[in-house]
Amino acid sequence: MIIERMKIEHVEQVGAIEKMVYPSPWSKGAFISEIDENSFASYYVALDDCQVIGYGGIWIILDEAHITNLAVHPRYQRLQVGTALLQQLIYEALAHGVRRMTLEVRFSNKIAQNLYCKFGFMPRGVRTKYYSDEDAMIMWLDDLELIKTQLEQVRTQQISQRRK
Ligand SMILES: CC(C)(COP(=O)(O)OP(=O)(O)OC[C@H]1O[C@@H](n2cnc3c(N)ncnc32)[C@H](O)[C@@H]1OP(=O)(O)O)[C@@H](O)C(=O)NCCC(=O)NCCS
Repeated sequence: MIIERMKIEHVEQVGAIEKMVYPSPWSKGAFISEIDENSFASYYVALDDCQVIGYGGIWIILDEAHITNLAVHPRYQRLQVGTALLQQLIYEALAHGVRRMTLEVRFSNKIAQNLYCKFGFMPRGVRTKYYSDEDAMIMWLDDLELIKTQLEQVRTQQISQRRK
């Protein structure tokens, strides 16, 4: 698997995954405008043999980053693709001097909450009726520098496993 910046050529496959995993999917146009027009946005895709298997993005505003989307193709879930994409988003944020990260997640989405908790995100509030049918839990990761060392260690282990 490789992770690279999302390009227009990826949007068709991203849109197909989006429809599979979300009840109210973003349109392909929404991704195109994020890539082409939103200077605050950074989006990445995970590719397996040139096929998009997952994607995620953030908006960076001053020293805060907001995770706007993170999804993995159902066939590739539970294989650490989401973890790798979230790591990439955190690296991108760190490279821009970001100190704190936030996101919204459905209260019913325990799987995504588990993933975010693994990285130290904590529940910090509620956005009422954020989704048409459900409230959102607001999560924050307060000090990105603290997990930087932890991520470096994981990355070193991953590289040495790949070399074996
Ligand atoms: C949330 C999502 C991105 C996770 O991606 P993934 O590649 O399957 O996740 P990973 O394999 O990297 O797993 C990371 C952690 O997530 C949690 N997790 C993943 N799948 C899980 C499952 N089926 N049940 C419980 N926890 C789960 C675990 O804590 C896991 O850590 P572990 O492997 O140490 O147990 C994926 O399930 C998805 O695309 N869901 C639909 C879209 C979505 O809900 N996005 C989040 C919007 S806020």
